[in-house]
This record gives sequence, structure tokens and C-alpha cells, in this order.
Amino acid sequence: MTMPKRSLLKIILLGDSGVGKTSLMNQYLHKKFRPQYKATIGADFVTKELQIDDKLVTLQIWDTAGQERFQSLGVAFYRGADCCILVYDVNVLKSFETLQNWHEEFLKQVDPANPETFPFVLIGNKVDIDGGNSRVVSEKTAREWCISKGNIPYFETSAKEDYNVDAAFFGAAETALATE
Ligand code: GTP
Ligand code: MG
Repeated sequence: MTMPKRSLLKIILLGDSGVGKTSLMNQYLHKKFRPQYKATIGADFVTKELQIDDKLVTLQIWDTAGQERFQSLGVAFYRGADCCILVYDVNVLKSFETLQNWHEEFLKQVDPANPETFPFVLIGNKVDIDGGNSRVVSEKTAREWCISKGNIPYFETSAKEDYNVDAAFFGAAETALATE
């Protein structure tokens, strides 16, 4: 009998304050959504078991603080990451523009052997708001950014409606495994 292979994948959620990092994590883990905002301070992780093909995968998902005054506490936890999920809010242009900084800062802190092929995933969250009528970043624009960064997989989600959330985390796990 062959034993299933086991992997521990450390995944870091990054992005501006309020884009929905904590909400995505809570929806993925507990199938719960809270409309009230509570800022994340520093960083904390949760774990989730997954099966991908013949592999048993433990995702260690790190939720970090988007608020500037709490950010420095989070940086220490980037190290050893297998994948970085960048999150923006499709209704807030600034949160898309800042992705550039998050991407750069992450690579600077982690300093991976091959920065060009480090596994990133991009999530455009809150697609539920106003039935999509208040979005200011198009899917096309987001996908172009992903291509410019070396073909980052892209997912549009709603943490509120539990739309595409599982797929996004699964995609992150697959991306990390592919470059292991
Ligand atoms: P920081 O911890 O400050 O970095 O913020 P965060 O990225 O963790 O954001 P958080 O998950 O706390 O969500 C911010 C606010 O947006 C909360 O009031 C959430 O309820 C709301 N929110 C998150 N995701 C969605 C979504 O998909 N749709 C809608 N309509 N609201 C959302
Ligand atoms: Mg948070």
C-alpha cells in the first residue's frame, strides 16, 4: 500500500485594509460572514486539510493586517511562505493600485530563490456589491496585471455570498504545489 503524500503549505493573505482578507478566510473555514468590520492586528493563522490528487495537504493560512499601523507586525510572518494571495476590492481603485506595493514588499521580505516564479494568486473580492455596478476595476484590467506579473492565477470572489471562495483557496494550494 502506498501512503498518501503529505504537504504543509504556508499561505499568506495580503492586501489593503477592508478588502476582505479576514472575511474570505472565515467564509472558507467556517462558512460564516460578518458584516461588521473588525481590523486585524498583526497576523494569525488557521489550518485546513485538503486532498489534492493523491496528496494530503495542510493549508496554514496566515491572515495579516492591511492597516498601515499594524502592518509591521505582520511582515515577520511572511518568511517560509509557499504562496501569497493578494486581495483587492473590485470596487476600490486604490486597493488595486496598491497591489504593486504588496507584491514588491512581499518579495523583498521573503527574498525567494526565484522571485519570477514565486507562487502568487490574485483575488478580486466583493463582486456582489451593487450587483457589480459599482466596480471600478474590470476583470480584463486585473487579468492583464496578472499576466504582467508572470501569469498569476486570478479569482473573483464574494466572501459575503460565498462565491468562488473555495476555488480561490484551492487554486492557491495547487499553485503552491506546482512549484514545490
Ligand atoms: P484588515 O483586517 O483591516 O486588513 O481588513 P480585511 O481585509 O481583513 O477586511 P475584512 O474581512 O475585515 O472586511 C472588511 C469589511 O468588508 C467588513 O465589513 C466585511 O463584512 C466586508 N466584506 C468583506 N468581504 C465582502 C464581500 O465579499 N462582499 C461585501 N459586500 N462585503 C464584504
Ligand atoms: Mg482582517
